[in-house]
Amino acid sequence: MNNAVTAYPSGPLAGMITAPGDKSMSHRAVIFGALATGETHVTGLLRGDDILATISAMKALGAKVKENTDGSWTIKGVGEAGLKAPKDVIDCGNAGTGVRLIMGAAAAYNLTATFSGDESLRSRPMGRVLNPLREMGVETTAEAGDRLPATITSNGQLTPIDFTPPHASAQVKSAILLAGLRAEGTTTVRETKLSRDHTENMLRAFGVEVISRPKDDGQIVSITGPARLKATKINIPGDPSSAAFMVVAALITPGSNVVIENVMMNPTRVGLFETLAEMGGEIRADNFRKSGGEVIADLQVRHSALRGVHVPPGRAPSMIDEYPVLAVAAAHARGETIMEGIEELRVKESDRISATVEMLRRNGVEITETSDGMRVRGGPVTGGQTVQTHHDHRIAMSALILGLAAENPVSIDDASMIATSFPSFFNIMKTIGADMQSSS
Ligand code: S3P
Repeated sequence: MNNAVTAYPSGPLAGMITAPGDKSMSHRAVIFGALATGETHVTGLLRGDDILATISAMKALGAKVKENTDGSWTIKGVGEAGLKAPKDVIDCGNAGTGVRLIMGAAAAYNLTATFSGDESLRSRPMGRVLNPLREMGVETTAEAGDRLPATITSNGQLTPIDFTPPHASAQVKSAILLAGLRAEGTTTVRETKLSRDHTENMLRAFGVEVISRPKDDGQIVSITGPARLKATKINIPGDPSSAAFMVVAALITPGSNVVIENVMMNPTRVGLFETLAEMGGEIRADNFRKSGGEVIADLQVRHSALRGVHVPPGRAPSMIDEYPVLAVAAAHARGETIMEGIEELRVKESDRISATVEMLRRNGVEITETSDGMRVRGGPVTGGQTVQTHHDHRIAMSALILGLAAENPVSIDDASMIATSFPSFFNIMKTIGADMQSSS
């Protein structure tokens, strides 16, 4: 099927919209609910393909998950009975977070399970999770380079480890902590840079004691097993990584004034908003309140004259998924924007450095690729070209946002992956007046 879509120069964008449920928290709510004793009730869950894949996986491992008529979800966890070996290969679709966290969670039990995914997921490195699991006593087989499909076999009696991940990664931290839940003793992860802390926060909501001590720019986080999760109620706030597309769209499209409600403002996630504010972006956050244990706010964003900035590399973990759309903002800024220390982008759903460079260069933007980043020189964006999305939802959405404020329309070859993280993207963009049309 041809899923090509074109974004036409639009605007001004205006109106009030709500950010969809946070993807990171949605994965965790499903996985933790599946492990817990009792029934967990989840509101605000993201109904994206990545989360639906995680729901199928947790069902295959023994949990019962059901969607209620009001859009909330009930998860009956396995509790003391534990996860069971799945009958078939678990297909995690496009979801790196899903597969890495579920491998960690499953490894705590006496079972064998094989995991796979789509073409993009099968190309991504799994050694970062398989290696610490091996240290804990899990037997594994995987494709060359520790790629999927991968099989884990555990006797359910893992050895706790004290592990320092080589790069900031909430997925790796979470997989180790989940495997450590049933290991006798203390499992510790030493982060040199703090990554998103949803696992720590949500495990606490499920009654698990998680000890985290700040250390320099990072933290030492540990749990002592065996630890039990008790079912709870979770409300998932809006995803700042999805709100990012509407924020940048409003900043670069002349005359725009958009309010985005329900945006999670966890400090480990808001690096993009800080950077855009430094670039001169008018983003006003107000109505701060708490939801699902996180601080949320409404963001009012107006079209702004942006200027290029040097993004501090230390900020990368708090905006790791937002660099492609930041590059779109930078294309509309005066001067140069320098992004560095982001080599991790090369192993996301696509090589996001080269995909972003290709997207912007094709559409007339001056951009330089470096081994660990990119430099964008702002100026007129001619547009008029089709962008290859490489099975990457964030490249697809970034390219469409680029088209809204370019001189000519911008097309993407395939919009289907957008449903992994943001199934309501086209509806929401339409609500605020963005002209995006199927070009199949
Ligand atoms: C995520 C962690 C990040 C991020 C991903 C979601 C999570 O990946 O890019 O989209 O929910 O833990 P890394 O752990 O590889 O940095």
